[in-house]
Amino acid sequence: MDVNVKCEALVNIAPLMDRNGDPVHAHGGHMLCKDGYYYWFGENRRDRRKVSCYRSMDLVNWEWRKDVLTLDSPVKTIYHRTSLELEPRDAENRGFGTGAVIERPKVLYNELTGRFVMWMHWENGRDYSDARCAIADCGTVDGEYVFRGSFNPVGNMSRDCTLFQDDDGTAYFVSAARENADLIMYRLSPDYLSIEEQVKTLWPGQAREAPALMKRHGVYFLISSACTGWLPNQGAYAWAEQLTGRWSPLMPLGDITTYDSQPAFIVPIAGKDNNQCSYLYVGDRWDPTDYYASSYVFLPLSFPSDREMSLDWVDRTWIDPCKGIVAVECGTGSGLFRMKSVGMELYLASGNHSIDPDEVHNLEVRTLSYTDKQQQWRVDYGRDGAARLRNGEMTVAIGSENSLILVPTLDQEDQFLWLLTETEEGSLTIGSRDGRVLTVAGEKRNGWGCVSLEPKHLHDPRLGGDPQLFQLISVR
Ligand code: DGJ
Repeated sequence: MDVNVKCEALVNIAPLMDRNGDPVHAHGGHMLCKDGYYYWFGENRRDRRKVSCYRSMDLVNWEWRKDVLTLDSPVKTIYHRTSLELEPRDAENRGFGTGAVIERPKVLYNELTGRFVMWMHWENGRDYSDARCAIADCGTVDGEYVFRGSFNPVGNMSRDCTLFQDDDGTAYFVSAARENADLIMYRLSPDYLSIEEQVKTLWPGQAREAPALMKRHGVYFLISSACTGWLPNQGAYAWAEQLTGRWSPLMPLGDITTYDSQPAFIVPIAGKDNNQCSYLYVGDRWDPTDYYASSYVFLPLSFPSDREMSLDWVDRTWIDPCKGIVAVECGTGSGLFRMKSVGMELYLASGNHSIDPDEVHNLEVRTLSYTDKQQQWRVDYGRDGAARLRNGEMTVAIGSENSLILVPTLDQEDQFLWLLTETEEGSLTIGSRDGRVLTVAGEKRNGWGCVSLEPKHLHDPRLGGDPQLFQLISVR
């Protein structure tokens, strides 16, 4: 790290507040650079708000500007068969409570019309069955946007989406179609207010979400996530020399949970002084148990070659508006891990549901929560590569029969050592000395399941994920 940098750091390990001290609500968003400011548009689901806009000159200090789209926004149709509903109603003319669900708003400036055009994902507020895109526009970047309606582009389903403006001003809309199986790319009309043509289907059947596009040295990159609801998964990137030409296969980006984030957008940061452009990945760290506790991850993208992209974890990034990304600090890490069950998308936790009245804590699996300390583990390696699994002052031990319990940590004892054995795919089994392994058992009910010690079995992949496999994910 260059300690002489003058600018403030963009920090990943603290909640992001605006200049009024309020949390920044701009999820699934997008940034637009205009007149020396970065304008950040994103989801804000509080009260009647839908999309909020913030601005910053340095990407660190954010000023809230306006809730640019709300349930009270003006509406005006442009398309023959769009629906103007921002507050959909059921058959009895009752609202569903919070109005339409608006996700992943993206905004571009249209040079020809001088208007700012927003495309987004629209759902009815009750479920995700409508799968429509929607449009809004405005004459000023952070003014009141006029809602222009929602529709299924070329009759397709349309969920997670992004916008991209090419060097010649042509804009493209990309969204997840066919129950998220495909990503479809559309070229927009010159005013960006309608679809001109469906131009490409990307990775058909591979279920990609959260697309974000960028171009560097004439090469297009598209990043995306897999499709696991609010849970993080392995991100991927691909490249192409022509947007509508042949795209590379998907290649991994970041770690197995994309550092506990899902792509929102990529901001190009043009260094005015050095003529260099740096690229910042912005991801949402969704909290699957509390949407409002979701936060953000900011990471510099690097390019080992013109057709390769990589994403490494950093705690802090220093961005000089005139030079771009000038320094990063990787941090020492927390030394803690979350342990995800490959079979159930649930995380190992020190539970309080005791079966045996003499024992206080059992081991269980729960829905991911970033604030739940009982899901954060220390792996202390001892003799022969075996390890103790510790949660705070407790260690995982074998209870009666095949149960697993947490007992107070005793450093001198080695009877609670576990063998972590890596599979070819990079997952782990967690085994005891008698050859049994941790197995997630029971039904997944209410985001909870139990864990027992069972003989190792050969898993039949036709039954789904292996309940004896885990993945270790660093807590950052
Ligand atoms: C993942 C998407 O990327 C989010 O925008 C949101 O739609 C959630 N799924 C809903 O489960």
